[in-house]
Amino acid sequence: MRSLILADQAMGLTMSPKSLLQTPDSSVAGERACASEAQPIPNQSPAPPQSLIQSPAIQSSPQVASVMQWGITRALPHSLQEREDALQEICARHDATCPLCTTHVGHTRTVLGEGSAAAELVFIGEAPGDKEDATGKPFQGDSGAKLDEMIKAMGMSRQQVFITNVLKCRPRINHTPTAEQTEQCACFLSEQLMVIRPKIIVPMGGPAAKHVLRLDEGISMLRGQWGVWQPPTGCQVEPIPVMPTFHPAYLLRNYTLETRTLMWSDMKLAMTKLSAK
Ligand code: URA
Repeated sequence: MRSLILADQAMGLTMSPKSLLQTPDSSVAGERACASEAQPIPNQSPAPPQSLIQSPAIQSSPQVASVMQWGITRALPHSLQEREDALQEICARHDATCPLCTTHVGHTRTVLGEGSAAAELVFIGEAPGDKEDATGKPFQGDSGAKLDEMIKAMGMSRQQVFITNVLKCRPRINHTPTAEQTEQCACFLSEQLMVIRPKIIVPMGGPAAKHVLRLDEGISMLRGQWGVWQPPTGCQVEPIPVMPTFHPAYLLRNYTLETRTLMWSDMKLAMTKLSAK
């Protein structure tokens, strides 16, 4: 893994004042709005949320598809091929049974995720947008380019990590997914995490962070603090450390030194833990 100082330079954190003031050359119009991201960044480090581990703050009782009990009713996949096969099977089951996506109109395909089925690092966004729906790949467009830049600065490539979303199909209306919609589709995300079993999960933005941590705080409160993803009860999968951070679309809309430094410091925490494991 490259040195963190070199990576700082790659993220532009040691750039000249002129380039720091530069705004990205295009707005993120046309990409997912991520309205929930538009929160002010507190001046000081926020106090840690009451508990990053418990606190099942999001309560809803939507119709939920049945989750494969990996490690109980189904043996955990271990080899890369087994994991790839398992991800394909999850995709097929999602397409046939997801209570949310099977009732959607307007999307053309499922965007299950992209990258290594044995990745050590999994990034999770909100939901596919137009470009993702058109290509079948997550994080296309400007926020995808920013994510790629960040992954590269971390010394990795898109093929080495795994990138996915909480929702697997473009929502009919480009709004932040409700907790109910999330609960309907996100059991497939849980299955993906059980199959890949990364060393670290990085949810990007409020909806992903809230879902993965089962908390209701905004991303400005959650980011930069270690949390834990708890696998469904009974599954023989260990809890996985979680480092929440901003959504790249939020970074692009708030392209300040402060936001970039905060997001990069989150990634440095992830890299340090990754290299220690
Ligand atoms: N593209 C994605 O795949 N997910 C997001 O959250 C935003 C853009």
